Amino acid sequence: MKSIFILGASRLQVPAIIKAKEKGLYVYVLDYDSNAVGIKYADKFLEISTIDKEAVYNAAVTLNPDYIITSTSDMPVRTVSWVNQKLGKASDISYEGSIFATDKVVMLRRMQECGVPIPEFYEITKFSEFLDVTRKMANKFILKPADNSASRGVILIDKNKNPDLEEIYRYSMQYSRSGKALVEEYMTGPEVSVESYTVNGEPNIITITDKMVTEQPFFVEIGHTEPSRLSIEQQEEIKKVAEDAIRAIGMCNGPNHTEIKMTPNGAKLVEIAARLGGDFITSRLVPLSTGVDMIECSFSTLLNEKVCYQNTLSRGSAIRFIQGEKGILSGIEGIEEAKKMPGVQEVELYMKPGESIKRLENSSDRVGHIIAIGKDADEADYNVTNALRKIKINIL
Ligand SMILES: Nc1ncnc2c1ncn2[C@@H]1O[C@H](COP(=O)(O)OP(=O)(O)O)[C@@H](O)[C@H]1O
Ligand SMILES: [Mg+2]
Repeated sequence: MKSIFILGASRLQVPAIIKAKEKGLYVYVLDYDSNAVGIKYADKFLEISTIDKEAVYNAAVTLNPDYIITSTSDMPVRTVSWVNQKLGKASDISYEGSIFATDKVVMLRRMQECGVPIPEFYEITKFSEFLDVTRKMANKFILKPADNSASRGVILIDKNKNPDLEEIYRYSMQYSRSGKALVEEYMTGPEVSVESYTVNGEPNIITITDKMVTEQPFFVEIGHTEPSRLSIEQQEEIKKVAEDAIRAIGMCNGPNHTEIKMTPNGAKLVEIAARLGGDFITSRLVPLSTGVDMIECSFSTLLNEKVCYQNTLSRGSAIRFIQGEKGILSGIEGIEEAKKMPGVQEVELYMKPGESIKRLENSSDRVGHIIAIGKDADEADYNVTNALRKIKINIL
């Protein structure tokens, strides 16, 4: 029996763990968290941090897995490519490429080199540098850690609002693993993500998804709808930016999740990831709207089978995240009613009564989600919005 290491056992990794089992593999999951929800689906749990390259390598030398992968998490992408490279195994992307895809400073420099449109940006590592850079920026600009995800530490600063720059700097930097952060031009306009699958260096765009984010100053993703409702011309421009970014990081095989803003000056890259999109985009929305199972694609690459990335369906799908006011969750009403609404595929909650709901600052502060389909994006949007209206979050 062939075996696989899957790095990460969080909720978003579960579909890949289940798929690996379906493929008849012996599945080891690795996570620093011995309570991770994905553990129960695997054959064996290894309590190893997914960012500890040496520890993952040592475990691989001992247990000799046939394959080493991750699914939707960012940092393990580096570990996977490093360990695969060291063991002489095939990898979706080189270790150097994995840094392009996970360190936003290196990523933007690489994009600049390759002529991919990006916002104006500055790297900072000290508060004094931050202060210097802020003087160069327009009234509104972005501060973000170089190497985190799920919108942790990403914040819009408005000079007109007399911001406490020191406090904001500390807030954002707490999420920087390397101590590096970026100050970026604030890009306006609609935002999308592009899901694609690269085969032998050739990117194939599967779909474009419209993204909804919260009110400023934080940018929490609160919904996604696909296919995108932007104009064909805008979508063509977005595809070009995504393809150029995928080539720039040197993707060989596998999925990319690319985030792009359609600004008044054209499509510009927010970031690119060398992995599946999170937020149930690739695990749920893409298959519901296009028929493409990107997790299956990943396993096809891994097992040397034909990769089926072509769309077989043309429908709309949408997710909306359930949010609550700050406080102690005392109850949630309307779940069963929401589940019965037209088009609804699932209603999931991440919190139980008694748990505390925080101010919505990043993805982990969300309470749950609803996914719905429709004949097109408008209908999916309509269906999911109606279902969301049935949910009432009670706070103590
Ligand atoms: N330069 C920018 N201009 C406008 N919005 C931005 C900019 N950078 C980030 N954002 C917003 O913040 C969100 C999170 O930023 P991102 O760089 O994607 O970080 P993460 O890795 O945490 O997802 C983006 O999806 C976008 O909505
Ligand atoms: Mg992002």
